[in-house]
Amino acid sequence: MSEVAATTSKRRRSLWGTRFGFYLAAVGSAFGLGNLWRFPYITVENGGGAFVIMYIVMALAIGLPLLIGELMLGKLSRRSVISACYRLSQDETISRRTRSTKTGGPWMWTARLAVVVCLLILSYYAVISGWVLHFLMQFFVSQLKTGAFDVEKSLSVLREHGGLQMALMSVHLLIALVIVAKGVQEGIEKWVSFSMPAFVILLFILVMKSLSLPSATDALRFMFYPDFTKLTLFSPLDAIGHVLFTLSIGFGTMVTFGSYLNETTKIPAAGFRITAMDTVISLFAGLLIFPLLIGAAFTTTGPELLFQTLPRLLVDIESGFVFGMAFFICLYLAALGASIGLIESVVANLLDFTRLTRAQAAWLTGAVACLLGVLPALSTSVFHNVNVHGHGLLEILDGLLINGLLPISALGIAFMMMKRLKRESVQEEFLNDESEATEALYSHWLFAMRWVAPVTILVSLALAFYGLIKVL
Ligand code: PHE
Repeated sequence: MSEVAATTSKRRRSLWGTRFGFYLAAVGSAFGLGNLWRFPYITVENGGGAFVIMYIVMALAIGLPLLIGELMLGKLSRRSVISACYRLSQDETISRRTRSTKTGGPWMWTARLAVVVCLLILSYYAVISGWVLHFLMQFFVSQLKTGAFDVEKSLSVLREHGGLQMALMSVHLLIALVIVAKGVQEGIEKWVSFSMPAFVILLFILVMKSLSLPSATDALRFMFYPDFTKLTLFSPLDAIGHVLFTLSIGFGTMVTFGSYLNETTKIPAAGFRITAMDTVISLFAGLLIFPLLIGAAFTTTGPELLFQTLPRLLVDIESGFVFGMAFFICLYLAALGASIGLIESVVANLLDFTRLTRAQAAWLTGAVACLLGVLPALSTSVFHNVNVHGHGLLEILDGLLINGLLPISALGIAFMMMKRLKRESVQEEFLNDESEATEALYSHWLFAMRWVAPVTILVSLALAFYGLIKVL
């Protein structure tokens, strides 16, 4: 990186105004469609309780250590992922080894992969965010016009009109880009600080309403009673992929957030809080959806699950219109927060490496994401014939990205930080001053980074690969 680019990057990198602001933004990026839209349907596909337990264990044993690692990499290098990696291979003060090449060696590919994963996932994330926008508008208009909301009709309009999905995706990207182009502080901190807490409260109220349905007992049994025979060879990888996706690990996003952290923030505690909050919100989503699913005796699942079930609660309860509007607005804001996190990671990398302004980098990212989004946007119309064992193009793309590329990218970032960061700086950062983290915790974390995470991810990838060969 040239001197000029390095100095400009420093000038353009702002720190979080408040610690609260950081949590909100980091949780805001973690908390998104992954929790509300994806978690319920992959839990149904994997048979319920046993998968939920597996997911919680993976979140604590693999997600948490990797999250701490990424935040640390960002904080110690004060760079976003590509340039952090570049600096690790160049700078002796933070690098353990001095061997370096002009390109930063093979680790650079890991970082580049993370940014590519961000862009690819952003493109289909924007399509699902477009679905949320569609439901928000449909719910509003149909309730005002007829007082009734026809779920199936709204879904079939979406399914049949790929052009509509592309238009909604573009509108969503446009909104997100305007926010990112304005900058981190004003852009993210301000709006997340009111939408996030509001959503958590709203979600809690809706969960209570859903749990008062007669099907709640069966739903609780489905969600918490483990029947391990329901797990498949794909379940461990499904759990890992989802943990990484929902905690925003493997994208470089948390490296970027870490790079914006204040000197005094204690990373292990921050990582734990983010993991705990995010997992609780996913479980809330299950508690909201499963009583509705079981009550309506649905047999189907898949990406449409949230949209098929939730309106059934909203049309039944008192003040359903107000709750419905509030829910879809908050869900949209959560999707927007996550999309901003994804765009921000790509933009931060472009800022570190090019002379582009923040606005130029943001528009470039948006344009590429928009082009890439054409495929998932047309998955239910033009490409509706693409189907593998009942999974459409969108689900196939989702599986390849989240269960395939993402674990590899997460492992790469973890390897890179373990190999290249100076051990003393990492230890000092982990045990920083008045932190409650003990030496024992530190050695557990090292063990998880060196052994537990890589071995579990590689074994799960191998099991899924074996499973794939068997079904094909
Ligand atoms: N964690 C987000 C979700 O659960 C997705 C995301 C990944 C957002 C990476 C930002 C960065 O929906």
